[in-house]
Order: sequence, then C-alpha cells, then structure tokens
Amino acid sequence: MTDPRIELADLVADVHDLLRADRERGVDHREGEQVVARPAEPDRREVAPRQPRQKPRAQRPPAAPARSRPAPQEKKAPTQAPQHQQQPAGNRHSAWGRKKAEPTFGYEHAVGAWGFSTPPPIPVGTPARAAADRLLAVRRELGACQRCGLCENRRSVVFGMGHPNADLVILGEGPGANEDREGLPFVGAAGEMLDKMLQHVLGLGRDKVYILNVVKCRPPNNRNPAPDEVAACRPFLFAQLEAIKPRVILTLGSPAVKTLLDTSRGIMSMRGAWQSWQGVPVMPTFHPAHLLRKPEDKRLTFQDLKELKSRYDHLGGLR
Ligand code: URA
Repeated sequence: MTDPRIELADLVADVHDLLRADRERGVDHREGEQVVARPAEPDRREVAPRQPRQKPRAQRPPAAPARSRPAPQEKKAPTQAPQHQQQPAGNRHSAWGRKKAEPTFGYEHAVGAWGFSTPPPIPVGTPARAAADRLLAVRRELGACQRCGLCENRRSVVFGMGHPNADLVILGEGPGANEDREGLPFVGAAGEMLDKMLQHVLGLGRDKVYILNVVKCRPPNNRNPAPDEVAACRPFLFAQLEAIKPRVILTLGSPAVKTLLDTSRGIMSMRGAWQSWQGVPVMPTFHPAHLLRKPEDKRLTFQDLKELKSRYDHLGGLR
C-alpha cells in the first residue's frame, strides 16, 4: 500500500504543476470547472521548460524537498494592448500600419514604454535589457501623470517607442490627435513623413531608433506646449535619455531643440549645425509637419540627415 504521505506529496506537486501550467497559459483563476483567462500579457519571468519527473511516484521519498515556489509575478498591465501596439512599427512606413512585420526585439510589459507588447524578450544581462529596465522604471514613475494641465484633455500618455537601447533618439514636440488616440508618437501624417526620412535617408526602421516627445500629453488644438507643461515633462525626457543612452540625438522643430538645450534660439539658426547635450551630439532639423507645409525645406532636411548619418555610421550606430 502506498504511504499516505507520498500520496499527499504527489497531490501537492500536482496542484503546483496545475497552477504553474495555468500561469504559463495566462489563466487567472478557475471558477468551478470554468477556466478564466487573464488579458494577454506575457509573464515577466522567463519560464523554464517543465522538467519530467525524475522518479516514479511510488519511489519518491516521503520527505521530498519542498518545490521552490515561482517568483511572485509583477502586477499586470491593466488591459490587453490595442492592436496597433501588438506589432512592431519598424517597416511601418511602407504600409503604415497595414503591413504586419515580424517583431525584431522586445520585452514584456513594454506597452507604454516603447510601444510593443508582444515581442520576444530581450535577453537578461545585455545592455539593451538594462536600458529597458531603466526605461520601464521611468515609465512607472511617470504613471498616470497629473503634473500639469495637459492631463485634463488627454486620452493617452504618449511615452515613446522604439529600441530601449537605441543609438539614435528622435525628439519631437508633443502628441497630436492621432498620437493621443493611439498612444504612440508620430503616427499621423507627420509620422509617415518621419518614417520616410528614417528609411530613405538613414536606412533605419523604427525598431532601431527611439522616438519620443518633449511633452507626453497632447496640447489642445495642437498648440505649442506652454513653459509650465514643458517644465513638468522635462525631467522625464531627461530620464528617458539617460536610460537609453543614445549616441546621437535628432531634434525635430523648435520646441524640441529649445527644450533639450535650454536655449531660446530658433530652428532656423540652429538646424544643420551640431550641438551637444551632456556630451551627446545633437542635430537639429525641421519638424516633418513643417515639411508637409513647406516641401521646399526638404532639401535642407536631407542635408541635415546626411550629416547625421555620417556621424551615426562613424560611431557604429545600430543597424
Ligand atoms: N508631432 C510631434 O512632435 N510628435 C508627435 O508625436 C506627433 C506629431
């Protein structure tokens, strides 16, 4: 007859296995026989493949060592990500959201930190993972921000998107209506223009760069952000840059370069000439929205981007 202690140990082991399998499948809890799945959000832990049992059950010693309990899970992001966040945006320029590209990198819990929710994890111990952790900490700190009046009319806090360890960071001004609705930077007509600039001049998709704005919430009627709004957001912008540690920064339009460099000089006098932020080279150029209004300035922007490209290539930027 089987020792009841063995049977009990087996029972406990089975329950552990069942719960663990549920967690891996995304099942939140069970109601009677009905299994209730939680919204899709990958587990933060890298789950080891289940090991086969070492010994037949009857031979297991009664005082089997306790199974190590899985680490407690991170609090889950509140809801399933909208569809646009479930695909990487590199290659988007070609079909602008209609073409589904394969993920090229990623990280769990990335929704709102760099825009992708379901890519494969960035390996632990890599610089990209360290940057991802830092960036995520900044996103958490920002939270559902109410530090200025822009919170009253916004739908989304548009934090940024791209590679957490990008060599090139692109700084815009603030979200517009499309960005506010989608929660991602540069997803309207200006974004399409930006994607073309990136792809055609620099040969880079969005998955190789990081794109962010001076303010994270949409200024009503797309007005320029007010000084108090910029002041409230600037520490988060700087914290993002310190997390990403880019080698080169491209600023788009006047508010971006003025905020970053704390200068009153306008874009006309600064564009095309290298500046520096904490030792990182900064290239100011026109905002893509400006180019949509004034296409004749594309030629100057092209020059600025060519200059940026040679510096980026020289520094061995991510390809
Ligand atoms: N313009 C910006 O400056 N940022 C965006 O995200 C979109 C438009």
